[in-house]
Amino acid sequence: MQRRILTYPDPFLSKRAVPVPGVDGKIRELVRDMFETMYAANGIGLAATQVGVGKRVIVLDISPVEETAAPLALVNPEIVAKQGQAEGVEGCLSVPGVEGMVCRHESVVVRGWNENGDPVSIEAHGLLSRVLQHEIDHLDGILLVDRLAAPAASSK
Ligand code: NI
Repeated sequence: MQRRILTYPDPFLSKRAVPVPGVDGKIRELVRDMFETMYAANGIGLAATQVGVGKRVIVLDISPVEETAAPLALVNPEIVAKQGQAEGVEGCLSVPGVEGMVCRHESVVVRGWNENGDPVSIEAHGLLSRVLQHEIDHLDGILLVDRLAAPAASSK
């Protein structure tokens, strides 16, 4: 079922999401709904915060840009390593009509659980690294508009 995407300046978008204690049927349903919502909006990433759920869950699928990429759902994603810096243009489904240059870490290692509750570790570069950082920002209440022309090193 598609869910409604909150848009800036909805105050919920600035709230920090809480960790998920375990992956159950409700989380799997949330993941399914988030994929459906993201695809319907032609997005490549979505955080639960954006659909009004304050839980640490993100989905992404960059295959429209890099066709060999697989869809990815992450519960409690956490950046455990980061390297380098890279600038790139970003947009956000919650900030329609705004695109801007954002400096991110060029590569990150992200740990979390997949939609089955199994631990996963992802080493990401380039666009995948950028989208992961963008979506994890959402879980911390940080929006694209907070990052524009700001250094990547700062973490709220
Ligand atoms: Ni976004």
